[in-house]
Amino acid sequence: MLDPQLKRLKLDKYRQLLKVAFGHTPPFAFCDTAGQALWTSDGPPDQGIGAILAALPDADAPWLTQANGSLRQQLDNGDLLLFERLDTRAELAWLAVLITAAQAEPELPPVSTEALRSLAACIKDEYHLNYELNCLSRELEQRNEELNLVYRLDELPRSQDDLPAGLRTLLGQVTTYVGADVATLVLLDRPAPIHAVNPESEVPDLDLLLTELRSNVFRFISSSKQTLILNHGDEPARRYLMPHMPYKFLASPILDGQEVQGVLVLVRRPDALDFLASDRNLAEVIADHVGVTLRNQDALETVRKFGDQLAGVLIEAVEAKDPYTAGHSERVQRVSVHIGRALGLVRSDLEDLFWGSMLHDIGKIGIPDVILTKPGSLTGDEFTFIQTHAQQSYEILRHVEHLRPAALEAIRYHHEHFDGKGYPAKLAGTKIPLHARIIAVADTYDAMTSSCSYRPTTSHEAAIKEITRVAGTQLDPDIVRAFSSACRTDLALRDYLWSQDPPPSG
Ligand SMILES: [Fe+2]
Repeated sequence: MLDPQLKRLKLDKYRQLLKVAFGHTPPFAFCDTAGQALWTSDGPPDQGIGAILAALPDADAPWLTQANGSLRQQLDNGDLLLFERLDTRAELAWLAVLITAAQAEPELPPVSTEALRSLAACIKDEYHLNYELNCLSRELEQRNEELNLVYRLDELPRSQDDLPAGLRTLLGQVTTYVGADVATLVLLDRPAPIHAVNPESEVPDLDLLLTELRSNVFRFISSSKQTLILNHGDEPARRYLMPHMPYKFLASPILDGQEVQGVLVLVRRPDALDFLASDRNLAEVIADHVGVTLRNQDALETVRKFGDQLAGVLIEAVEAKDPYTAGHSERVQRVSVHIGRALGLVRSDLEDLFWGSMLHDIGKIGIPDVILTKPGSLTGDEFTFIQTHAQQSYEILRHVEHLRPAALEAIRYHHEHFDGKGYPAKLAGTKIPLHARIIAVADTYDAMTSSCSYRPTTSHEAAIKEITRVAGTQLDPDIVRAFSSACRTDLALRDYLWSQDPPPSG
């Protein structure tokens, strides 16, 4: 195979130098350590000087008998092959020049021999310079890829739900970069390892391998708290760590202080390259970063639970004022999110919808119980008073940083009507924020189908009929359609509605 360094040599320059030294440009070649031409000046390597070099009997080949310096080989036809050693380590070993018998007569001038030596020194220098540059370039490329991989660690998802998928993607990138067949995270609080297989690898006994990693290897690293590399089959630790498999592996602990949260394991086939110190360094960086991410996730989860519990307490406090509204907020939230999904909302919108619908009536905490629980119809003043709850909900919650503007607007405008006759701002049509229009549908449905002190519970069909009747005046007709359709096709929504007490009929 042609040495890639050879391609980078400025060969035309050497043609000129040979012409100056010999008075013409003789055929010349670059040979490997076995004397085979890698490149020839007069055609393909198997023709011309290349064919002559290939035909030399091994016993006479000078490179087999002498390692350094200048050599000459007289051919049977009187032609002369001059050799100059280029390098003793690299693939490129010799410069060979063919001088025909006629041109060699009566004898080559000494200047030619000297010129050839200088020329070989020039080629050697340039070759080495290119070689060094190439090594540096490869090193730089490797560092760059390593950095990219470390940067990608920062892209790990912040949500607990997305974390396994994010870790799996990261492990996939690690297998490609490190050249591992499998990369696995065995985590203390997860029953099954998260793993990725290199797309170019086949691991037929993967399940058995993961079982071994999850048991003996995990226990050992949990105890030693140190990175372990096992490259060879005869290493003593293999007998009790992975007795049934010949794989090479590198295992790094994921530490939380002195506690092991998990183990990152990289696996290679027995015929693959050994794991090196550079692989160990990178694995330890990845394991550290995964550890930080897991700890952040735990902290976030704690804060999230605390927030959820606080919201639950607030909602309970409101619903306790009127026993007939118990569970209203959660039901409106469940139905709203189903409508949001039916409308194709993205995850962040669904989150806003979740919080907006869950907290939409928080402002009722400031409405006197006597109005909230009054059986029968309200007076004008009472209705005016109760209308303030939407704005009041907004005022209470607007300082909560976790709630984004879309959630707050949904809360504030959930009593607007599509025809502009609602409250508090008399917004109309699509001027009403989308989330608020969704909550309005879910809120209206739940108000009709749940128990109430002053009117009988409406059936599911009657409620659908009623919200369809007010579509275009009170409610957004597109959202009413989406809800009606979801009630027929969204099995999870149907299960939820039908699980309520009393269940919708039909
Ligand atoms: Fe409300």
